[in-house]
Amino acid sequence: MFTRRAFLQTTGTAGAVALAAFGDDSLGRVFAASRKVEGAAPADVAADETYWREIQQAFTLDRTIINLNNGGCSPSPRVVHEALKRYLDVSNQSPVYHMWEILEPNVQTVRRRLAAEFGCDPEELAITRNASEALQIAQLGIDLKPGDEVVTTNQDYGRMLNTWEQRVRREGIALRKISFPVPPPSMDDLADRLLGAITPATKVLHFSHITNLTGQIFPVKRICDEARRRGIKTVVDGAHAFAHFPFKASELGCDYYGTSLHKWLLAPIGTGFLYVRRENISSLWPLTPAAESQSNDIRKFEEIGTHPAANHNAIAEALSFHEGIGIERKAARLRYLRNRWAARLGQHKRMRIHTRLDPAHSCAIGNVQITGVPTGKVVARLWDRWRIIATPIVHDEYEGLRVTPNVYTTLEEIDTFAAAMEQIAAKGID
Ligand SMILES: Cc1ncc(COP(=O)(O)O)c(C=O)c1O
Repeated sequence: MFTRRAFLQTTGTAGAVALAAFGDDSLGRVFAASRKVEGAAPADVAADETYWREIQQAFTLDRTIINLNNGGCSPSPRVVHEALKRYLDVSNQSPVYHMWEILEPNVQTVRRRLAAEFGCDPEELAITRNASEALQIAQLGIDLKPGDEVVTTNQDYGRMLNTWEQRVRREGIALRKISFPVPPPSMDDLADRLLGAITPATKVLHFSHITNLTGQIFPVKRICDEARRRGIKTVVDGAHAFAHFPFKASELGCDYYGTSLHKWLLAPIGTGFLYVRRENISSLWPLTPAAESQSNDIRKFEEIGTHPAANHNAIAEALSFHEGIGIERKAARLRYLRNRWAARLGQHKRMRIHTRLDPAHSCAIGNVQITGVPTGKVVARLWDRWRIIATPIVHDEYEGLRVTPNVYTTLEEIDTFAAAMEQIAAKGID
């Protein structure tokens, strides 16, 4: 038999290149790289470029652009994308059989593995198409009467705020949005502001585990425990948190949690999940109605009609890739990349870093402003001159550039970004 080793021995490097065309061993390479650094401190591995080169090669990217908006959605590693395509091909042979009978039932494996990673019972986890859908199931499915109040922040995600605003217009509930400084003085300050806004009418607290605007992490457990003590439900927007930095559901204590999987888990685009604490399942209405007999079944939130099985089944490969790196090593590398540009730019007198850099407060996401230069212009200049993608954040209370690298980002890309920012700060934009 013509083995891989024999092939490489006879053809050398050219063979390795050709091999990539008909066999992807990137997951094996990731696991092998992790075996080599087993036992090393994540902070040390974060600076080990030999290790991260193995991760970088697992993606098929356009390296002529520097993509620092992985917070929007991230490319999947090749192994995930190939699985997605494979499942689509299988589905199309005869969708009613191959998709519905063969692939769809395997979503239970994905549910089990996601639940293990998140730290909940699989019967508390519904697979959704994104964080918006997950959160809207909770936001629109909780019974509220006119005058009942929801407390949130003015830095929560626009679509989620719009969802509550629609209930204000449609049903006469009340919405109270608190403000908080960026960066905040402390975790306690964040908790005190949210908990301090509670009134006798408050029925729900809605806030982000980590904000998309500056990457601020919230003291979720402290807030949720206190809300629970007062009989208030908690909806936590974890769109950016899951598979970004380490935590388990037991460290949150929330009632509902919605996340995207196409951001930090690197799963196919159009994937997310909703966690519903078991005691809340029967009283939460699904967004797309289900039979009464399903009232206590988490699957009632998945009654969305015909949809591709490929997207949610390929989450399994994304979980394998994620486990291959390991969440501690991943978070350490993401902080290392973020600190590399943020510590450098933070020295500059015209730069304002809106993100607190200590690990309890943030991870991969950072927000920086060049004072005196409109953020929109900075973003345009980065793209025109350097082919760098970053996200403009213009909030009523501050503005800046959101920068989100991912595990495939190279140091050269980070340094190019930092140098470009220094050049813009020094010369301005005419
Ligand atoms: C904080 C936050 N919540 C919710 C969402 C919505 O996520 P999705 O687009 O996956 O529905 C996003 C998207 O960026 C987000 O940043």
